[in-house]
Amino acid sequence: MNEALGWGRRYLMCPPSYFGVLYEINPWMHREVTVDRDAAQAQWEGLRTALVEAGAEVEILAPAAEVPDLVFTANAGVVNANQFVPSRFRHPERQGETGHDAAWFRSRGFQISELPEDVCQEGAGDALPFGNVLLAGYRFRSDAASHAYLSALTGAAVRSVELADERLYHLDLTFCPLDERRAIVAPLGWDRYGRRVVEALVPEPLVLDDDDALAFCANSVVVGRRVVMPTCPVRVGRQLEAWGFEVAVCPVGEFLKAGGGCRCLTLALDVTLAAPVPSADLH
Ligand code: ARG
Repeated sequence: MNEALGWGRRYLMCPPSYFGVLYEINPWMHREVTVDRDAAQAQWEGLRTALVEAGAEVEILAPAAEVPDLVFTANAGVVNANQFVPSRFRHPERQGETGHDAAWFRSRGFQISELPEDVCQEGAGDALPFGNVLLAGYRFRSDAASHAYLSALTGAAVRSVELADERLYHLDLTFCPLDERRAIVAPLGWDRYGRRVVEALVPEPLVLDDDDALAFCANSVVVGRRVVMPTCPVRVGRQLEAWGFEVAVCPVGEFLKAGGGCRCLTLALDVTLAAPVPSADLH
């Protein structure tokens, strides 16, 4: 069996005390839709419990009024061991989150590395480690230019993928690392070149059809051999089980109203990005 992921056992989550759909910055958000706060709280607790039962630790970021999307901690920034690169949000509606995120990481002793001010990058929502590289998405939220800065700040090799479908506006809606050779992938979200990049990177992909991609199947959280998913079609579940994974379905319907699923509600804190393989010693 393939080796399990070397990360994904410690997460940051933020309770949905102030969560709501108060503005529209992605095609899923409609202000006239009301969020049921009690249902959201119960779903959020359900996700936290599912992660803990899978063997993960969950740390808590205090919720804050006026930033309803703070619950989507995946977008806080990029974690690399004790380094934290705070996001630069595309939309003014989310820019107020950065201070809360950076303060939490600073208080935990992380070293903060800043991206330039004129470059957008939305954290782990658009950057996920796979094998020896950081797979990074750009276009709707993150700028392609952010990738070189991410690489310079973290030392990681970054592989860029252009996102092509507005409904899948963050990379983590299209890509979910499962172990060192496998990932759930949603080609619907990428252009032709991006599909080739992922094909070359992932030896054994679990390919989602368009409907499953749009149900946010790829927005799952992997804790060892447990895959915590917002929904799991039979075919996907069978393949995961054949590969030795256990599926835990965790409904997060209230958060789908804001365009977020299970993964969006979490940020892995135990990621250490690999340094690029050194070139041959010439001495
Ligand atoms: N309403 C949030 C936004 O549009 C949802 C964020 C989802 N996060 C994610 N990592 N995909 O920014």
